[in-house]
Parts: sequence; structure tokens; C-alpha cells
Amino acid sequence: MKGVLFDLDGVIADTSVYHFQAWRKLIKDHFNRELPDELEVQTKGVSRADSLTAILNYLDIKVSDEDFNQMTAEKNKVFRELLNGLTPNNILPGISNLISQFKQHDIKLALASASLNGPFILEKLQLLDTFDAIADPSKVAAGKPAPDIFNAAAEAINLAPQDCAGIEDSVAGITAINRSSALSVGVGDRDELSEAKLLFPDTSFLDYEKIEQAWEKIN
Ligand code: BG6
Ligand code: MG
Repeated sequence: MKGVLFDLDGVIADTSVYHFQAWRKLIKDHFNRELPDELEVQTKGVSRADSLTAILNYLDIKVSDEDFNQMTAEKNKVFRELLNGLTPNNILPGISNLISQFKQHDIKLALASASLNGPFILEKLQLLDTFDAIADPSKVAAGKPAPDIFNAAAEAINLAPQDCAGIEDSVAGITAINRSSALSVGVGDRDELSEAKLLFPDTSFLDYEKIEQAWEKIN
């Protein structure tokens, strides 16, 4: 294993919940409707526009293109406000240690997040210099569950996806990693992330040796 492709929200930092909090506020303000918890699973890992499409489909609401764009911009404003107090304390348990282990073994690190706020969040977490590359989600043809962002992240560190593991907390993200043929490492619920090749219940369980061994096994 020569590289690791990291998801951001819900893997590196506890920012995943803020996304859905922002969607809940937006939908409440615009339509006075509530969003059920199960929609959070569907929007996790999915781009901003694809998330709003899923939410509007669920609510059975149609909006003009102009309103759609206005709503994604507004959601991002709420999300950015929620990120205001973000510090390195928001890095999830086990992540700093895992990153050190990878560095000790000369493993390259790339960010493979769907978020356009990736560089901003990494900066707030003081992790910007830790990553060898950040794949730009605005430059890939298709978002997760398509493999594009993981392929781009591997390419950005001059590796083939097969040389890498990807770490994800979302269903769409695990599918994307599997399609890219990197080793999929899931963080979360067994039923939800059943397609992950290796699974840890939460980030505090992430283990360099286990990831390396699982990668050896499939290669
Ligand atoms: C992913 C989140 O990391 O980024 C999704 O899991 C989010 O919930 C997506 O929609 C896009 O993020 P942003 O910051 O560009 O709106
Ligand atoms: Mg995530």
C-alpha cells in the first residue's frame, strides 16, 4: 500500500452532522417541513446539488433552477457559519495517530472529499500541510458513488487506485472506492456499510496494521 485516500466529513472531522443540520434549517425556513434521519444517510458523501435533489425528491417539491441555486448557496452559508468555531479539537479520535503511522511508513495522503469546502476545513483543522494532494471535486465528471474523485485523488499523488486504500463513512463513498479498485475501509455501521472490504465501528478503532494487511490480502 503506497497511498491513502481520505474522505473528510465524518472521517477526519466531525463536520458531517453540520451538513444535515444546515439542510434541516434550510428546509424548515423555506417549506416549514422536517427531514427524517434516514435522509442523512442518503445525502452523506453526496455533492451539495445531488443532496438537494434527493431532499426535494423526498419532499416531492419542484423548484426552478434559480431557486435551486439560491438554496444550495444558502445551505452553504449556514454550513460555513456552523464551521466558524472549528479547531483541531474537531479532528475525530484516532485520526491524528493514524496519519502519523501512515507518514512513518512513507504512505502518501490525498483528500478525496466531495466537499468544495475541503481546503477551508483542513486549514481550520491545521491539517492542510499534512496532505500531499487534495482532489478538486469541481473538476471531476461525476460525484460519489462514481469513482472519479478517488481516481483523481490517487492520480494527484502519482499512484494507481489499486496502490491505495480509501477511508469513508458514507454508503456512496464506499461504492465509489470499490469502483475505483482501491481497498475500501469503512467507518461506521455494519448494516449501512456492508460493502466495505474492511470496517471499523468508529475512527478510534482505525488501525494501520489491519489496513495494510487487508490491502495485502486483496493484492
Ligand atoms: C460531503 C458530505 O463530504 O460533502 C456531504 O458528506 C456534502 O454531505 C458534500 O453534501 C458536499 O459538501 P459541500 O461542502 O461542497 O457542500
Ligand atoms: Mg464522509
